[in-house]
Amino acid sequence: MIGRLNHVAIAVPDLAAAAARYRDLLGAKVSAPEALPEHGVTVVFVTLANTKIELLEPLGEDSPIANFLARNPAGGVHHLCYEVDDIIAARDRLKAEGARVLGDGEPRTGAHGKPVLFLHPKDFCGTLIEIEQA
Ligand code: CO
Repeated sequence: MIGRLNHVAIAVPDLAAAAARYRDLLGAKVSAPEALPEHGVTVVFVTLANTKIELLEPLGEDSPIANFLARNPAGGVHHLCYEVDDIIAARDRLKAEGARVLGDGEPRTGAHGKPVLFLHPKDFCGTLIEIEQA
């Protein structure tokens, strides 16, 4: 069912410092920061040959990554995003098999303008999973 690894998201306390580390030390192609108020994050995209890394910094009062950074003050891997061909079919199959879809279960528009859903980390080896319509 799942296809490509679309991105690995890393929550960071200091986006400028994280972007500089990927750009200057790792020599990666790093985008300008983009504020996504509806997602409560500011994001920088690191483009690799085979996938992307998203560096996420909290934005606003109730950022969904605030608790994660409180537990991981230096930052850390926050979620993995897998592509699926049909997000509704994927959701229905996951729910039918007992996997927990976060929120109201309806896809939201993600950072790339495509529908996304998040799956409970306890159902996927302790890792928050995002699925994105390919
Ligand atoms: Co993501």
